[in-house]
Amino acid sequence: MRISERARRLQWSPIRKLIPYANRAKEEGVKVYHLNIGQPDIKTPPEVLLALKEFKAEIISYGPSQGIRELREAIAKYMGKYGYEVEPDEVVISNGGSEALLFVFSIVADDGDEIIVPEPFYTNYNGIAQILGINLVPVTTRAEEGFHLPPMEEFEKVFSERTRAVLLCTPNNPTGTVLREDEMRRVVDFVKEKGIFLITDEVYREFTFDGRKHTGALKFKDAWDHIIVVDSVSKRFSLCGARIGNIISKNREIITEAIKFAQARLCPPTVEQHLALAAYNLPMEYFDTVREEYQRRRDVVWNALSGREGIVLEKPEGAFYTVVKLPVDDSEAFSKWLLTDYRNKGETLMVAPAPGFYASPDKGKDEVRIAYVLETEKLERAMEMLLDALEKYPGAQCD
Ligand SMILES: Cc1ncc(COP(=O)(O)O)c(C=O)c1O
Repeated sequence: MRISERARRLQWSPIRKLIPYANRAKEEGVKVYHLNIGQPDIKTPPEVLLALKEFKAEIISYGPSQGIRELREAIAKYMGKYGYEVEPDEVVISNGGSEALLFVFSIVADDGDEIIVPEPFYTNYNGIAQILGINLVPVTTRAEEGFHLPPMEEFEKVFSERTRAVLLCTPNNPTGTVLREDEMRRVVDFVKEKGIFLITDEVYREFTFDGRKHTGALKFKDAWDHIIVVDSVSKRFSLCGARIGNIISKNREIITEAIKFAQARLCPPTVEQHLALAAYNLPMEYFDTVREEYQRRRDVVWNALSGREGIVLEKPEGAFYTVVKLPVDDSEAFSKWLLTDYRNKGETLMVAPAPGFYASPDKGKDEVRIAYVLETEKLERAMEMLLDALEKYPGAQCD
């Protein structure tokens, strides 16, 4: 018997691979503050939990492959509130944003084809590309520039005859960067000129700070045919376990192909689509409270870490992550050491080493991703421990 090369080349999630060390620490009775994973502690809205309670059916049956119409209508209406014209038929419901990415990558690229993506990037893009034999081609962004896009020459440099798309994530996981309209415009012009697709991952659309406005790809009507939006209810409504996401495109060919993929896996989860429907029916004010809470948490991280010697961090602009450059020689060893050795009054913290968010080898070795998904008091404590740990870490850089 032989295990496939596809399976062998698939990465372990760098976000999850230190979990055994965290578990061991917990078995010893150590309290671990989890800043490593984007699982918000914000409560799922009661309206959604009520929809779960009130869901009545004698048979939990299959639904349409494209997703139930009421949910696609609700998503079209929600997008309309941001000024994006979307028809319910231009939406395909997926099993989380993850499946939306799998479908979209599959639709735009064949084995050996390339997708350009600014790095650091959401690490599961790697996993999905590996499953499909697609090469992610990075364009590096830098902590010192707040991880904003480099000049378009950097995109030109890596463009090849195998390039099929550019993938942008805004607000960004892992960097917390919100792309400005002029940056988006430059990439839109690039994909138009090259005749390729623009995939935008907009799962953190609402989480923008300091009055920033999110610029969605659908704003650029002159490029509608090129644009494919990936979205999800996971973070937006604190509904990560519901596994509902979607693909939106004004390009009907993309939708037709996506429905074929959707048919091959029958349908998205029936009960959860009803929960998502209740979520999309919430008033837009719901997002104000959540945004304010994340901004408060961002402030805790920023106030604790900014201006410290050896730490490089621009003020995070959105989502609930940031990539921080630390005075350590190897962020993976540091992250592991936090779990195996560092103790502070019986507590420690867990962060995600950044190399797993890069496609380029050797990048991110002095960076970690912090997900500020804990309430402010716990976050303050975690930041206090991080600073203390940096002083005690034997692998700290002393220059
Ligand atoms: C940028 C980004 N895209 C997509 C996803 C996938 O989310 P889900 O499959 O839960 O919808 C995540 C989850 O963390 C994410 O951070």
